[in-house]
Amino acid sequence: MPAGPGRRGSATSTPAPDATDPMTQSLLTTPPTRPLVAASILSADFANLAAECREVLAAGCDLLHLDVMDGHFVPNLTMGPALTASLRRALPDAVLDVHLMVEDPAAFVDAFAEAGADHFTFHVEVVDEPRRLAERIRAAGMTAGLALNPATPVEAVEPFVGDVDLLLVMSVQPGFSGQAFRPEVLPKVRRLAELAGPATRVQMDGGVKPANAAACRDAGCDVLVAASAIFGAADRAAAIAALRNHAPATA
Ligand code: DX5
Ligand code: ZN
Repeated sequence: MPAGPGRRGSATSTPAPDATDPMTQSLLTTPPTRPLVAASILSADFANLAAECREVLAAGCDLLHLDVMDGHFVPNLTMGPALTASLRRALPDAVLDVHLMVEDPAAFVDAFAEAGADHFTFHVEVVDEPRRLAERIRAAGMTAGLALNPATPVEAVEPFVGDVDLLLVMSVQPGFSGQAFRPEVLPKVRRLAELAGPATRVQMDGGVKPANAAACRDAGCDVLVAASAIFGAADRAAAIAALRNHAPATA
């Protein structure tokens, strides 16, 4: 049976989040009743960023996904803590999901926490002790995510499934939006969805479109990231609704 939202078994060692503790309760640690959609602002018009973000939030997306790139881990440069802080000021209630594609993510935990990020994902390929870094991220007041590239075997993250709030499976080589989805990573999603407890999300990132969203959801993905499929759509609300396969609220 697919392991989508609300369908994960309870046979797991991961404790349920304490609903009375604001440090452990968040959009990402609560099993969603429908798939969550994260709009990656990498395909937004940076000159009109606040307006772009307001528009996709009003159109129904659940999170804003910020792709942070350092020109070393990936061959591109994008955004950092200053932009995150500006978005936090402009959008006090938005959930800011920061995806670090940098060689030394530990160096930026405090800066992103102070900037107002809600969630911090780092890559397993560049961190020797993911468990310790996840603890630091949580101590700084954010939820923690662990990502793996298409070429990285799922076994690299399996030991840490119980230590993070989100597992990010890259379905393109990180660095740029607008690339083609790689369906060969779907078995990794299936495996991680089996292992993840109810307080841990499985996120797909890269080339996610309405045409392949069902395959992602059926594999057990409960957070779908999309940049070009949302910001490049003529009707962004329809694109977001199609990704999560729920009718728009206005329909
Ligand atoms: C790629 C980034 C993705 C990217 C997705 O390195 O991590 O978040 O922006 O873009 P699309 O949805 O266009 O593939
Ligand atoms: Zn990303």
